[in-house]
Amino acid sequence: MHPMLNTAVKAARRAGAIINRGSLDVDRLTVHSKRENDFVTEVDKAAEQAIIQILLEAYPSHSILAEESGETEGDAEYQWVIDPLDGTTNFLHGVPQYAVSIALLHRGQLSQAVIYDPVRNDLYTASRGGGAFLNDRRIRVSKQLRLQDSLIGTGFPFRDFTHLDAYMGMFRDLVQKTSGLRRPGSAALDLAWVATGRTDGFFEIGLSPWDIAAGCLLVLEAGGLVSDLSGDEHYLRSGHIVAGNPKVFVQLLQTLQPHVTEALRA
Ligand code: IPD
Ligand code: CA
Ligand code: CA
Repeated sequence: MHPMLNTAVKAARRAGAIINRGSLDVDRLTVHSKRENDFVTEVDKAAEQAIIQILLEAYPSHSILAEESGETEGDAEYQWVIDPLDGTTNFLHGVPQYAVSIALLHRGQLSQAVIYDPVRNDLYTASRGGGAFLNDRRIRVSKQLRLQDSLIGTGFPFRDFTHLDAYMGMFRDLVQKTSGLRRPGSAALDLAWVATGRTDGFFEIGLSPWDIAAGCLLVLEAGGLVSDLSGDEHYLRSGHIVAGNPKVFVQLLQTLQPHVTEALRA
């Protein structure tokens, strides 16, 4: 395993232990609302601090982009992109679907990725050019050929409703053109599930880089495709994302097109 990936795994497991401890007594956590429907707890913060400490101990010059503490400037060549707890709403309700997500950008390119699901003790890892793994077993995207027979993950808009009409149009078409849609509630795991072939594709609007950075590398290294809503590579910047096995990805992107507004192309 690449030494930087190894360090990220150590950090993700440490954060997972903090999250598991916190999950035993969610009712006693202090919950703050960052904005409407956007919650943060001391668990998110403690997990993030533990991750950053482990990463910077090993690589003191690297820069950081983390959901709760923002940007820490350093060597611009290496940037860690961190979501300490993806799926906070699930976590707060005791719904066992959330994860730690850590990715490393090297000169702006995704190079290492870890997603850790502390509920199932499942560790997903990927290194650019080295394939994707779940608990040391190689994973690949599904072999599904037709959108019609596919199970597709998504996330509903729930904070910002700017693109709600466009989203509802996409939803309406996909309900009729797939074998099912799922909204599990953690974009990081949604992408990890595409990488393992549990779902055949995924799409969502308005995500942040920390939600998807690690998951995108997992999907790519598992033989899948990822793009923004225009079929381009700007998904980390725009936060609008489509992913899937190569066959389903093309049909999914095509089906979404009639609903992609000018604003969603940016
Ligand atoms: C959220 C989850 C969710 C997605 C949201 C994200 P958070 O992350 O990934 O699935 O629909 O847009 O913000 O806030 O729980 O880290
Ligand atoms: Ca998130
Ligand atoms: Ca989060």
